[in-house]
Amino acid sequence: MGGVGSKGLVLLRTIPLFSGVCDPELEQIAGVAAHRKVSRGTVIVRSGDPTDSLYILINGSARVMNSDEEGREVILSILGPGDFFGEMGLIDGSPRSADVVAAESCELLVISKADFKRCLQENFEVALNIMKRLVERLREADRKIESLALMDVYGRVAKLLLDVSEIHDGRRIIPRRLTKQDIAKMIGASREMVSRVMKDLEGSGYILVDDGQIVLNEQ
Ligand code: CMP
Repeated sequence: MGGVGSKGLVLLRTIPLFSGVCDPELEQIAGVAAHRKVSRGTVIVRSGDPTDSLYILINGSARVMNSDEEGREVILSILGPGDFFGEMGLIDGSPRSADVVAAESCELLVISKADFKRCLQENFEVALNIMKRLVERLREADRKIESLALMDVYGRVAKLLLDVSEIHDGRRIIPRRLTKQDIAKMIGASREMVSRVMKDLEGSGYILVDDGQIVLNEQ
């Protein structure tokens, strides 16, 4: 792989996966990482494929999703800048567990399997950061199982909005574009049902849609 040069070092310092890693080590990683741009809709990783690389999202967003033979889709997660993916297959040697599809144009860093393994061996911080993220994903999955088993669609929509919301300028907002179809695929409901619930939440004053952005009312 070509490496991403000195600009790459500055970039790697901002990636949570590499937090705690010293500059000489980061330089080594920048030297082996490749830079890739993909357009919206590109399947970056395909479920069932053999695993060869780790990916880090520099900008843009990507959906982690799976589908059945009838084309019904479930969104397992939506990844944003700084997130990594493709680690599962590299850790246990299994084929890719899901599709990862660019939700908009994205820039990525790509690290080969051999370089990733070397990086893990030489940098305990990276191994620890991966473990922390895997634990976070397990917690997220536990919460999702709980809401699927115990909540109705109304509760699942409300919980999802709360889970993905962030505080910006004192307002609790949904930071990235999230369509009703996305929400439906994330909580296992129909788009129509999600529309109905969203309308209800808006009518009751729990959410408002301000210039296309969903704002949660915390009163
Ligand atoms: P891998 O199985 O190699 O390829 C698909 C990738 O999707 C997987 O590695 C993870 O990086 C990512 N992935 C799978 N499930 C989830 C999830 N529930 N949340 C976030 N990312 C996931």
